[in-house]
Amino acid sequence: MIGIGSDHGGFDLKREIIKHFEENNIQYKDFGTYSEESTDYPIYGKKVAKAVVSGECEKGILICGTGIGISITANKIKGIRAALCHDVFSAKATRLHNNANILAMGGRVVGAGLALEIVDAFLNTEFSNDERHIRRINMIEKNE
Ligand code: RB5
Repeated sequence: MIGIGSDHGGFDLKREIIKHFEENNIQYKDFGTYSEESTDYPIYGKKVAKAVVSGECEKGILICGTGIGISITANKIKGIRAALCHDVFSAKATRLHNNANILAMGGRVVGAGLALEIVDAFLNTEFSNDERHIRRINMIEKNE
């Protein structure tokens, strides 16, 4: 199950990603927002982050206008490694190296075509399990 959430700035892109999930039989849970009305990104960043940490969702996708506010929010939750990615290379690398459990994007930064490729790269890349990367993730967790 993939958790997905956005504020109004990410609402259109969230809709495109949900359409992509439905076309590809990817199970998801939509944590809102559910309209274009102005709202506050920390609400959705927290909801999706909590769902990932609790195990309800294996990974999360968060979108706001830039992806910045919502990724900062998610990274405040213990156990979350949210990666703001606007290219496919970074989306793959953050799974391989950081074992990122949330992908953040900016709906005002990337078009839907690129965003869907980023989503697929993120969801289809496994963590490397490399000892160096595990050590560095453990070092991050010591700061939580
Ligand atoms: C909302 O206007 C905007 O500030 C928000 O979507 C996001 O870009 C914040 O980081």
